Amino acid sequence: MRLIIRDDSKAGSLWAAHHIARKINEKAAVSDKPFILGLCTGSTPIETYAELIRMVKAGEVSFKNVISFNMDEYVGLPESHPESYHSFMHKYLFDHIDEPAENIHILNGNAPDLKAECENYEKAIEEAGGFDLFLGGIGEDGHIAFNEPFSSLQSRTRVVTLTYDTRVVNSRFFDNDVNQVPKQALSVGVATVLGAKEVVILAFGSKKARAIKDAVEGPYSHYCTVSGLQAHPDGTIVCDELSVGELKVNSYRYFKAVEEAEGE
Ligand code: GLP
Repeated sequence: MRLIIRDDSKAGSLWAAHHIARKINEKAAVSDKPFILGLCTGSTPIETYAELIRMVKAGEVSFKNVISFNMDEYVGLPESHPESYHSFMHKYLFDHIDEPAENIHILNGNAPDLKAECENYEKAIEEAGGFDLFLGGIGEDGHIAFNEPFSSLQSRTRVVTLTYDTRVVNSRFFDNDVNQVPKQALSVGVATVLGAKEVVILAFGSKKARAIKDAVEGPYSHYCTVSGLQAHPDGTIVCDELSVGELKVNSYRYFKAVEEAEGE
C-alpha cells in the first residue's frame, strides 16, 4: 500500500484525476480493449470528477472506450431521487463526459430480485474483463463502498444493512433526518474492489483520520474493511494533511520518503 499525501483535498483530487486519465490514456495507446473503471459516490470524489470533466472537455482524456461500474446504491430509493447514487453520478460526472450511456453500470436498488441483480452485476464485471482501476472513498469507520464493519474481506456484490452510524453520517443529505436514510443498500464486496488491478482510495479531512490510522497501521481486519487494501499489490490511498493527522510521525515520514524516492 502506498499513501499519496497532499496539502489539501484539491491537490489530492487533482493527483487522482490526472492519475486516472493517464491510466486510461496509457491503455488506449496500446490496446483497443475498453478501460474498466470502478467509481464511487460521496462528497469526496466531487473535485476529482470536476477535474476529469475539465480534462474531457479540453481533449486531454476521453471516456468513449471506458466501461464503468459504480460501487453501490441505496435499496428502495427511486432512481430519480436527488440523493440516489444514479442521480449523483449523472449530476457530477456522466452528464458532462463522453462515456456512452450503454457503458455506464449502476446497481439497481429497486430491482424486483435484488439477489439476482447482485449476481448479474458480478457476472457483468467478469465479462467486461475485470477492473483496470477502482476508485473509492471511505466512510468514517473505514468502510469501503457499503462494506460496513464485519463485512467479510472476501465479500462480493450483495444486499447490505447499513450501520446506524453510517445512516446518521449520511442523513446530512436527507434533511438531517436519519429516518429518511434507507436502511439497506446494494454494494460491491470488498473482494470485488480488491479484484481490480489497481485500487485508488480518496480520503480527505479530519473525519477520515481514524479510518486512515486503522487502514494503514491497524490490523488486516473486517472491522475496518478498507484495511483489505493491505493485501492488494497495487493499492494507493490519496490523503490530505488532515486525514493523516492520526498517523504516527514515522509512518507519515516513511510514506513521504517513498513518494520522494519513487515519484508519481
Ligand atoms: C457512503 C458511500 C461510500 C463513500 C462514503 C463516504 O457511505 N457508500 O462509497 O465512500 O459514503 O462519503 P463522503 O465522501 O461523503 O465522506
